Amino acid sequence: MLDLLLHNATLPDGRTGMSVAVRDGRIVEVAAGLDVAHASAHEALDAQGLLLAPHFVDPHFHMDATLSYGLPRVNQSGTLLEGIALWGELKPLLKAEALIERALTYCDWAVAKGLLAVRTHVDTSDPSLLAVEALLEVKRQVAPYLDLQLVAFPQDGVLRTPGGVENLKRALDLGVDVVGGIPHFERTYEQGTASVKLLCELAAERGLPVDMHCDESDDPLSRHIETLACETQRLSLQGRTTGSHCTSMHSMDNYYASKLLPLIAEAGVAVVANPLINITLQGRHDSYPRRRGMTRVPELLAAGVNVAFGHDCVMDPWYGLGSGDMLEVAHMGLHVAQMTSQDGIRQCFEAVTANAARVMGLQRYGLDAGCDASFVLLQARDPVEAIRLRATRLKVFRRGRLVAQTPAATAALHLPGRGERTDWMHAKI
Ligand code: FE2
Repeated sequence: MLDLLLHNATLPDGRTGMSVAVRDGRIVEVAAGLDVAHASAHEALDAQGLLLAPHFVDPHFHMDATLSYGLPRVNQSGTLLEGIALWGELKPLLKAEALIERALTYCDWAVAKGLLAVRTHVDTSDPSLLAVEALLEVKRQVAPYLDLQLVAFPQDGVLRTPGGVENLKRALDLGVDVVGGIPHFERTYEQGTASVKLLCELAAERGLPVDMHCDESDDPLSRHIETLACETQRLSLQGRTTGSHCTSMHSMDNYYASKLLPLIAEAGVAVVANPLINITLQGRHDSYPRRRGMTRVPELLAAGVNVAFGHDCVMDPWYGLGSGDMLEVAHMGLHVAQMTSQDGIRQCFEAVTANAARVMGLQRYGLDAGCDASFVLLQARDPVEAIRLRATRLKVFRRGRLVAQTPAATAALHLPGRGERTDWMHAKI
């Protein structure tokens, strides 16, 4: 006897009329039609031809700052550097209870949007490690419905901050999952390089993954990603290392980029772009033409690099918008990268699902037998339509259990001469 039988679903790879059988929180069978073993189930659900996708994954977020927009003041210039300064003003005022409450509220938003796994950076610069302990508590509380992975992130520079290395190590001792860094924010380029080496060695010693904010600037000569790739190979960290942002790559010389891209691929370093934030924060020193700043997504993908998209910020010192909607992230990503071909749009869908799950190293992710039954039924018929409409998440399941549902979006039109019309958004031309 199955717990759940979902039938007549379209899958992201284009298969239609598919049935997905669930027992004990896992997918036990995926088959065409209703031809599944033990077809009787406690609950049956007709997907009506709509898209069933594995849940969304955000591989890059800052949950210690989320929903703090306006505290203690608004970022007037909207720049990255004022955002960092503003976060510095907010940090001494942070209270653990309020931080936990904001993070839990964000996780509620995330689950409602089918976002069931988040890798969040947490600032380790403050020796009290208040934010670290608060997010570890959030991780414990949300574990029944959301996978939260923590990155030890020395926002003010691990070498630039007095005690920065010790603070970061103490965060890891407390149970933070990933080693972070911010080499471009160290005092000098040499110290940035030293920080990459030190942090990669620390990760190798402790058997942890690495995820660094890397070259988040428009400086074409900011090349810490090269050091990260090199250290990944030297320390055999292949498949465990991620370079986040990598916006300087947008401005690099094409010849140098042609050497760098295969180096990143060879080292097995993943890259996370954050389209909503990159397009907002980069190019701020430009007049016109003004650079977009997002890293070279299609070129990285073509070189064989795993590229994912992150949300990065929602209503915090750096960004006053956002809602935990990874389809909005994918939508912006495809525009900024001009990935408007059908294949390009599908790649953008993968950047917020399967590729992001690989960055986080999620086990049992996907829609195959043996995977967790953690998936989303969308009010769309394929990934392209899902992104186009930022489709409603009709039902969100985590390990076979319904954790969120949203009524279908419809509009009733009452137009003279056009009659009564509904479901206008889904009409095929
Ligand atoms: Fe970030």
